[in-house]
Amino acid sequence: MCNKKPVFKAINLSCYYGQGRKRFAALDSATFTVNEGEILSIVGESGSGKSTLAQVLLQLQPIHRGHLQFMGENLPAKKEYWKLVQMVFQNPYAAFNQFFTIKKQLNESFNLFPKRPSAQETSQLINEALRMVSLDPSEISSKYPFECSGGQMQRLLLARIFLIKPAVLIADEPTSMIDACSRHSILDCLLSLKRELNMTILFITHDIGFAAKISNRMVVLRRGKIVEQGTTEQILHNPQKCYTKQLMEHASGLRKTVERSIVKV
Ligand SMILES: Nc1ncnc2c1ncn2[C@@H]1O[C@H](COP(=O)(O)OP(=O)(O)O)[C@@H](O)[C@H]1O
Ligand SMILES: [Mg+2]
Repeated sequence: MCNKKPVFKAINLSCYYGQGRKRFAALDSATFTVNEGEILSIVGESGSGKSTLAQVLLQLQPIHRGHLQFMGENLPAKKEYWKLVQMVFQNPYAAFNQFFTIKKQLNESFNLFPKRPSAQETSQLINEALRMVSLDPSEISSKYPFECSGGQMQRLLLARIFLIKPAVLIADEPTSMIDACSRHSILDCLLSLKRELNMTILFITHDIGFAAKISNRMVVLRRGKIVEQGTTEQILHNPQKCYTKQLMEHASGLRKTVERSIVKV
């Protein structure tokens, strides 16, 4: 893992909101790297700055202090960059137009391609992507977003990622609006994106239990500052900060995950 190229290298990255006396750092001097092909989790309670960090990495919020490199260089222009770095959000309904069918909207993903594939190829690629996220193309393609469940919509967002095949995916709380069963299937989809496409994934969550299930490394964020970072095993077995221990107390299914990893060791 260590000899892999860093995809992101962030040094003292800061982002402020508000003016004058109300100005505050939502992201405060964050230094970390994200390596090629890894799943890195950003973990912290609500309001800790996770989404701000995601938005800074996507160039949706400015960098007020510090520096960010992408693939060893300064950040490319946004249009080029967004072909390489994509994001899935907490609310999948907001990412789809309610008035168009799923198939039509997945078809639009090909607009990001340098050359649009033929109609037959696009149909085949859409069907493959839907199967990758365990959706039945014949059942879902002609539906409208409002006819789909939250779990199906989250999987559709990931089907779009299978189509676009960005180098990096930033997934901001992709499991927080869905039921427990759908949550596990989303984690499986993220793992197959890494396995099949060697995608680099930033998984953002308030639940360190979910982070533990899929990530190699974790960054723990509190009030905009990184309080702790390390491999998932280091953090689970030897958390250094009370805050991390508190997150662990409130996590889903963490005891089982820790026991399993103790058995592995
Ligand atoms: N656009 C914004 N303008 C002003 N304050 C914001 C904005 N977005 C987030 N904040 C504030 O910044 C802090 C971090 O928010 P956020 O990054 O959304 O945290 P998280 O995703 O961990 O819940 C919070 O105090 C939040 O209220
Ligand atoms: Mg958030």
